[in-house]
Amino acid sequence: MVNRQTPFVLYGGDYNPDQWDEVTLEKDIEYFKKAHINTVTLPVFSWAKLEPKEGIYDFDWLDRILERLWVNRIYVILSTPTSAQPAWMSNKYPEVLPVDIKGRKRTHGMRVFFCVNSVKYRERARAIAGAMGKRYANFPGLVAWHVANEYGTFCYCENCQQKFRGWLQNRYKSINELNERWHTNFWGKNLYNFDEVMLPTELNDDYRFNPSVQLDYMRFVTDSTIDCYTNEAEILRGYSLDKTIFTNISGFIKKLNQFKMVEYMDFAGWDNYPSPSDPPSFPAMKHDIMRGAKAGKSYIVAEQSPNQQNWQPYNKLKRPGQLRTIAYQGLAHGGDTCLYFQMRQSIAGQEKFHGAFISHSGRDDTRIFRELSKLGSELEKLGDVFLDGRTDSQVGFLFDWENWWALELTSGPTKDMDYLTQVHSYYKAFHTQNISMDMLKLKYDLSSYKVIVAPLLYMEHQDIAEKVKVFVKNGGTFIATYMTGIADENDRCVFGAYPGKYREVFGIYVEETDALRVGETNALVLQDGFLDAKDGYVGHFLCDLIKTEGAEVLATYGEDFYKGVPCITCNTYGKGKAYYFGTQPDDQFLEDFVGQLSCTIGLHGSIKCEKGVEVTYRTNAKGTVYFVINHMDEKRKVQFGNAVYQDLLMDQKWTKDVLLNPRDVLVLKRL
Ligand code: GLA
Ligand code: ZN
Repeated sequence: MVNRQTPFVLYGGDYNPDQWDEVTLEKDIEYFKKAHINTVTLPVFSWAKLEPKEGIYDFDWLDRILERLWVNRIYVILSTPTSAQPAWMSNKYPEVLPVDIKGRKRTHGMRVFFCVNSVKYRERARAIAGAMGKRYANFPGLVAWHVANEYGTFCYCENCQQKFRGWLQNRYKSINELNERWHTNFWGKNLYNFDEVMLPTELNDDYRFNPSVQLDYMRFVTDSTIDCYTNEAEILRGYSLDKTIFTNISGFIKKLNQFKMVEYMDFAGWDNYPSPSDPPSFPAMKHDIMRGAKAGKSYIVAEQSPNQQNWQPYNKLKRPGQLRTIAYQGLAHGGDTCLYFQMRQSIAGQEKFHGAFISHSGRDDTRIFRELSKLGSELEKLGDVFLDGRTDSQVGFLFDWENWWALELTSGPTKDMDYLTQVHSYYKAFHTQNISMDMLKLKYDLSSYKVIVAPLLYMEHQDIAEKVKVFVKNGGTFIATYMTGIADENDRCVFGAYPGKYREVFGIYVEETDALRVGETNALVLQDGFLDAKDGYVGHFLCDLIKTEGAEVLATYGEDFYKGVPCITCNTYGKGKAYYFGTQPDDQFLEDFVGQLSCTIGLHGSIKCEKGVEVTYRTNAKGTVYFVINHMDEKRKVQFGNAVYQDLLMDQKWTKDVLLNPRDVLVLKRL
């Protein structure tokens, strides 16, 4: 549990009362109570106020706020304010300011605008984290420590360059090994000592960075950021042995290896800001990635928007009921908190138009306030019924951050390479049928799954191919795609035909790969017995020209000079099967394919319902809780059959067919 003293969903979020007076604070507290808010996060960006001069702290104002909150039994997640250093620090120690990829030394102004390797930054950050730890570790309302906010600075300063050289030396030991790994014979980039290594900036490369160098630089920035985090987390731990310590990961930041970062955190925590155009399966997948980050452990939803954002191109209002479906989706996939940015709207600054519980109007009779209060009362009623709950899945997806980087750093075969989007297309096919999935790190055990899907597993590392072989041999079903098994962890391609180490398990090799422009397709000609040999499916994006070495051909291309060449194959390997998709099939194909696969190998959703309704479940010591979420603007049928379910929000039971209202949610236990 995030905190044993608070066995309920933490409900509330970022609160910045240092922006207004004490009368407003009292009004806020009154509203918090009305909205059933139990937890706020602060003081996220208040370093300049807490440390007006180097080493001189002013905690009095924060003490007063904390006291008022606690008197009213509002808990706090205390954040260290270290994502926005004070101006005096940037001026006195310019080394804390970052240098950007264009080589520009930035000046003071932004937040999350510091060099993660700056010794001064780390020293001052540790000092204030320590001062806060000492002062507040025993504060009775303290729920957890939240370190900094949304790390993500990439710095290219001299200091980072030095550090990068040291990091490489440590990783590769000799310059010869580095030359080998980076294949520096290409374009005459041979190095004779580590001091010759340059950071990959636009000063030395204007259009095509060497992906091997970039990959290591991204690994290095992740490690430097982790050091920044642990620099503070360690000192806080010294004061708070039993409190959760974490940081919030920005929406979905590719640049930092979040799977690695969360290993240093007690809980994974992330900020969920779905774009208005995202289908519900997209945030669902991201939630599952966060649950996967710590092998199925529940996670912290640290931020969501209580209404529209201000930073989307078009900031759509949340439709009536949408706040509720988004919030429950987070809980349904493994979240134990429902936190928002922000409690009260700022009167000025970059985010003055960002949604909040309390808007500029200062009223509590707004649509949003009403919806949030209702949600708060529901969560209060649910108590701890699903907290710590886990979800057993029969399907696992291999997901890998370094693979993501390498795929998208690669020049060719298409400029449209987008790992998240491609993975999502497969995820969606299972999600629509409410088949639960776990997102897996490469190092996890695969043996409990019936199906493993590994879209675009371009990079072969951690001997994953060997694990996959064992999985299939023992009876598992493995599904992979074009762009599989091509490069090693330094982005050096395999010799001996793709998909490299997976050739044997798939019983194929790929001779060539064609790239299709957006809108271009190639017909899929299905062989007899495969999905009723239906017409009309197409492939797009990339087309592998496959040669079989034992695999059965399920589909061939219908057009172009490679008409008749295999594009989808299945190989029986040991007791299992390995499917290879040489092209990106359309959504309908994927849905039909997953439908058939589910029948053959017995995958099933828990509660039947019409499309557009999401069903998930979480099991803890108290039993299993089901979440049924209608994401649609229309009513949708849910079929309980003869089973009877207790509604945990309303004192009511459900059985047989039920029509769920638009954007309605049920939280249930089976009787
Ligand atoms: C991020 C930040 C918050 C706020 C929100 C706005 O997630 O962590 O401080 O800026 O975005 O959506
Ligand atoms: Zn730097």
